[in-house]
Amino acid sequence: QPRLILMGRSPEPEKEPDWLIGLNSEAEIKRAILTRAGPSVTPQEVQAKFSRIRAGREIRRTIERISQAGSEVAYRSADVRDADAIRRTLAPLVDEYGPVTGLVHGAGVLADRNIEDKSDDDFAEVYGTKVGGLRSVLKAIGETSLKALVLFSSSTARFGRRGQVDYAAANEVLNKVAQAEAAEREGCRVVSVNWGPWDGGMVTPGLKTVFADERIEVIGMQSGAAYLLDEIAASEGPAEVLVLGPGSEIPQVGSPAVTGRNGADSTGNGVAASSFAELPTVFERTINTETHQFMASHVIGGRAVLPAAMTLEWLAHGALHGNPGLRFVGVDDLRVFKGVVVHPDESMRVRICADKAQERGDEFLVVAELCSGGSNGRSVLHARAVVVLAAQAPQAGTATTPPGDLPALDQSIETIYAETLFHGPEMHGLLAVESCGDAGLVARCRVAPPPADWMEEPVRSRWIADPLALDSGLQAMIVWTSDRVGELSLPSRFTRYRQFVPAFPEGGARIVTDIREQTNGKVVSDIDWIAEDGSLLARLEGYESVVDSSLSKAFRQNRLDESAPTKA
Ligand SMILES: NC(=O)c1ccc[n+]([C@@H]2O[C@H](COP(=O)([O-])OP(=O)(O)OC[C@H]3O[C@@H](n4cnc5c(N)ncnc54)[C@H](OP(=O)(O)O)[C@@H]3O)[C@@H](O)[C@H]2O)c1
Repeated sequence: QPRLILMGRSPEPEKEPDWLIGLNSEAEIKRAILTRAGPSVTPQEVQAKFSRIRAGREIRRTIERISQAGSEVAYRSADVRDADAIRRTLAPLVDEYGPVTGLVHGAGVLADRNIEDKSDDDFAEVYGTKVGGLRSVLKAIGETSLKALVLFSSSTARFGRRGQVDYAAANEVLNKVAQAEAAEREGCRVVSVNWGPWDGGMVTPGLKTVFADERIEVIGMQSGAAYLLDEIAASEGPAEVLVLGPGSEIPQVGSPAVTGRNGADSTGNGVAASSFAELPTVFERTINTETHQFMASHVIGGRAVLPAAMTLEWLAHGALHGNPGLRFVGVDDLRVFKGVVVHPDESMRVRICADKAQERGDEFLVVAELCSGGSNGRSVLHARAVVVLAAQAPQAGTATTPPGDLPALDQSIETIYAETLFHGPEMHGLLAVESCGDAGLVARCRVAPPPADWMEEPVRSRWIADPLALDSGLQAMIVWTSDRVGELSLPSRFTRYRQFVPAFPEGGARIVTDIREQTNGKVVSDIDWIAEDGSLLARLEGYESVVDSSLSKAFRQNRLDESAPTKA
């Protein structure tokens, strides 16, 4: 059983005086405080005393319940913003019990006020408790090998909330610290949970009404706790998850232009939405490496992962299905929230769902989603995109001309597949990488065999957007980051994909990548697929790949591994 140390600012609780025995309701306790203190006591003093009594009782009750469950537990009083106090408090405990192996950072306060009314002190208290607090505790526990690092963030970090600019910023910083820590701490489950409102804690009855009006349901105390245990027990998963009460609607933020239900999530990588109102299902498939053979050639970290290009293909089919007569034009804002990952000997049942088409000029926009049942019966939203359909093919622009001075890449394609890319034989779409320099890369690729060669029960007899040609463009960007940044990368987001032909030509295509932006950890590029005659077949704009030093180990584990841990 674990030993637990609970910390808060409240003093360590003492034995209650006799006059409090048997008093339970707020009114009874406050009346007793008034009677004992006399008429000179102010309402603020009564409230402060009452809060201390309530906090002491909560701490005592929590300690009792944890002890009854069989764990050793201690409470220590310290302000998490005071790094010295945290160090002084933790040091003797570490000396006595050994290093800290798990940390849950849940300290948080609110000071809700419109931005123009916020004082510096309000901001410092709210931000300092979350961000400074985490820094103090991580510093105090030192270079220990944590097995779990759990940060309590808030759905406000994703969607914002009036009066909570400080709280939103602080929680979003926690999300990003989680991303950074996850990359650094091998073997540690790092997760920042963006909680929606709980049925308790800082959610007052007034706030509950606000959430109810927004159709956001509260998270039950039991089910929230059970969810957290599942999340910690999972050996892997995204570093940021968003959790709302069952039946909640995900608030609308920014794009996409479609104003259907659900809308888009805000920015961020690897967000799993654990509760959302689902769109009507178009088709379902059970995925494993036998029914979908290509998956065995797309293995990262010992597990088969559905390629983003296949996700795009299926979302396109989902959108076309209910709109006969329209043709596929492209996809806007494809986001992968949570990979479809299949362990050896496991299957996953996935659903492709699509909303009604919304008209925008000559185009029709359809929000399509890829979902699965998830563990414990919860639905998991894996990916979402706005699929663009139209009666006519879009006008093709001019293909990008690669800079003439791109140096040749001195590596054969066999070496690239053996040493850089993780892709197995079925996914060997690149035929050659001709040149690679700071400005971009030029390669040649082939197209995928017919769908029936890659999977049982294909949804169509021909591809909509060729998944191998598309994936080859993404593979080309891994080659680029490997060559130019010295690190590997994976896709995180596509802003806009447009396809100017109904199908890719059998002879394959030339791929030209154009680097638009390169910042720490992220590369944004445009990718063109160009036919032999120089015409533009397709263009992917704003393709974001995340560069991550931890990927080299996962890329090396590109065979299905029976011993790879499965998600709890
Ligand atoms: N309740 C929700 O619906 C909800 C939703 C989203 C996110 N969250 C997040 O979940 C966490 C817990 O929320 P809650 O609803 O349980 O709130 P709560 O009941 O107000 O509890 C906040 C906790 O933080 C501690 N704390 C505050 N400032 C501290 C400081 N400077 N040093 C040490 N401890 C400090 C408090 O203990 P002391 O008072 O003894 O210091 C208390 O234990 C927060 O981070 C919150 O942002 C909650």
